[in-house]
Amino acid sequence: MTDLAPHFNHAYQCPICGEPLIVSINQRSYSCSNRHSFDCAKEGYINLLPVQQKHSKEPGDNKVMLDARRLFLEASFYEPLAKAIALIINAIQTPNQPANILDLGCGEGYYTRKISELCQSSALIKLFGNDISKFAISAAAKKQKSAQFIVASSNKLPYVSNFFDVVIRVFAPSEATELCRIIKTSGYLITVTPGPRHLWQIKEHIYTNVKEHTEDAEIPDGFTQLSSQRISYKISPNAEQRAALLQMTPFAWSASEEIKAKLNALDELNIETDFIVTLSLNTSQ
Ligand SMILES: C[S@@+](CC[C@H](N)C(=O)[O-])C[C@H]1O[C@@H](n2cnc3c(N)ncnc32)[C@H](O)[C@@H]1O
Ligand SMILES: [Zn+2]
Repeated sequence: MTDLAPHFNHAYQCPICGEPLIVSINQRSYSCSNRHSFDCAKEGYINLLPVQQKHSKEPGDNKVMLDARRLFLEASFYEPLAKAIALIINAIQTPNQPANILDLGCGEGYYTRKISELCQSSALIKLFGNDISKFAISAAAKKQKSAQFIVASSNKLPYVSNFFDVVIRVFAPSEATELCRIIKTSGYLITVTPGPRHLWQIKEHIYTNVKEHTEDAEIPDGFTQLSSQRISYKISPNAEQRAALLQMTPFAWSASEEIKAKLNALDELNIETDFIVTLSLNTSQ
């Protein structure tokens, strides 16, 4: 059983009927009292996205996008952001207390791995990650056996209510009512959204009239903002890393082959990163 992730009982509810999910004795499946059953994949994750909640055959980021994301992130360009998130978690965590932490829309799990690497009392932290993309979750689960990953939509999360002490959401969609439900009262939400000048020099190559968007932090209904910080610095990825960066952003769709070739041919490109990191408290109950 050593190749499997730890299976945390009492974390999940059935995505079909909402009853609690209980792990089987051999740890290979979960089921509810209504006999809905979900197998654990060999990589250790569970697929809790029923077909009726799937709006396409393979929802979420595809394999090309997640390979690009992994190549870029593993080169440590966003490590200062990961460190900032870890610092916040260290500051809000009650010493010597266990904590359930969710990386919402975790992608291939870069920040999930970083939390376990950088957080002070990582031994007391139970880490969870969800994403609607099976490719992403499979890759995340393969790399981090100590965390529990599921394929699930953030619009309808199969976690029991009042379960999480902290949820982090890095460039990923969320649904306010679900966040209020799964985060404990007075639990925390850490949100990362792009700042006004994020990847400015890439955008300049793609759009004729680049505009700064607002710096407003996104606070979901039911949450109260405690702090917000802007993190910005420059990076100089090589051609392969620039291509990966473009591939993992939404503006990849707007870039013609000509623009991609032009970006690829540059000897060097200094690119601004700009992140807004917001900490808020669940004040909904
Ligand atoms: C921009 S990526 C960010 C991934 C990761 N947080 C990171 O920063 O590396 C957005 C992620 O949200 C996922 N996603 C999109 N819609 C989703 C949904 N409804 N529920 C859960 N995940 C979703 C995508 O599959 C993708 O992995
Ligand atoms: Zn059920």
